[in-house]
Amino acid sequence: MAVGNATTDAVRAGKTPMSIAQVRPRLPFTPEVARELQPLYDRVKHVVTPMEWAHYAPLIKAINLLKKERNAVVLAHNYMTPEVFHCVGDFQGDSLQLAKEATRTKARVIVQAGVHFMAETSKLLNPDKTVLIPDLRAGCSLAASITGADVRALREAYPGVPVVTYVNTSADVKAESDICCTSSNAVKVVESMGTKRVLLIPDEYLSKYVQTKTKVEIIAWKGHCEVHERFTAEELENYRRADPGTRIIAHPECPPDVIKMADFTGSTAAMIDWVKTRRPRKVILVTECSMSSNVAAEAPDVEFVRPCNLCPHMKRISLEAIHDSLLYMQHEVTVDPSVAERARRAVERMVNLTA
Ligand code: 13P
Ligand code: SF4
Repeated sequence: MAVGNATTDAVRAGKTPMSIAQVRPRLPFTPEVARELQPLYDRVKHVVTPMEWAHYAPLIKAINLLKKERNAVVLAHNYMTPEVFHCVGDFQGDSLQLAKEATRTKARVIVQAGVHFMAETSKLLNPDKTVLIPDLRAGCSLAASITGADVRALREAYPGVPVVTYVNTSADVKAESDICCTSSNAVKVVESMGTKRVLLIPDEYLSKYVQTKTKVEIIAWKGHCEVHERFTAEELENYRRADPGTRIIAHPECPPDVIKMADFTGSTAAMIDWVKTRRPRKVILVTECSMSSNVAAEAPDVEFVRPCNLCPHMKRISLEAIHDSLLYMQHEVTVDPSVAERARRAVERMVNLTA
């Protein structure tokens, strides 16, 4: 496939007011495309209807060709929708796994099928590569809850107390931190500081969860995930009352009374592992809704109950957005070099600790 043509070049040069959606060629779902992509459809056929596939398949084919032309990989977070996660993602995982994969890839271009802080983390670890985020609006309520100036104020209020920062933050905030953590290594990172007290920011509920697992005193910030804070213990009680055999698996960004009801709490990758190895008859993944579809595609024997809370930021990363990102090489993520060096140190310290 040729990258660019007269129309797309005109748009790129700002010579036409047409939106990209208007000029994206309508890609036909031919019998050849159907045949060629059948192995990919087999991966998602339990969760993607034939009608949806007719729309997705040509885009998937185009994206996979563009990836080759651009020498690009797609890093897909566990919250991507199944057609992205299973059909165009080269690597899938939680925040820590994607950060580690970003350090290993030989590709020249990284497309982050996730939110902006994840793309920034990939850029920090790959300063010489091109990192693209398919939609610049893919933010995160946790990342928006705190600034670098807030961290400097915390340091003044708690002199000598190390700052452990969840990766769901901007590079500015990471740059003011001693080390980063993710939901899968927060306890280990906190204990690695070797101090009696640690500032663990910005997710209040993750901090409360970590406090139940360690003797180190945790000082928290009041940031929340807009998706996980919506779950309530009451709704889970209702599901369990309806079928007492239902297993409840929660992400540590959930409120404490929700976590108290869970049979298991862990990062998105740990939640997936739990379901794949335990194979419960019926399960509720108390996290972003698309993850249930991704696991259901591979575990059709498990019944998923879905209080369907979607992350509006993650959902901006559609096949169309990924296609256009690769076609127009947009939107490149950059980090100010004066911030990048300090932020990189905090991320690398975490990656090395959990290597
Ligand atoms: P994980 O690191 O567990 O994938 O979490 C990332 C996230 O954004 C959860 O809302
Ligand atoms: Fe941020 Fe929550 Fe969305 Fe994860 S699910 S990206 S923490 S808003």
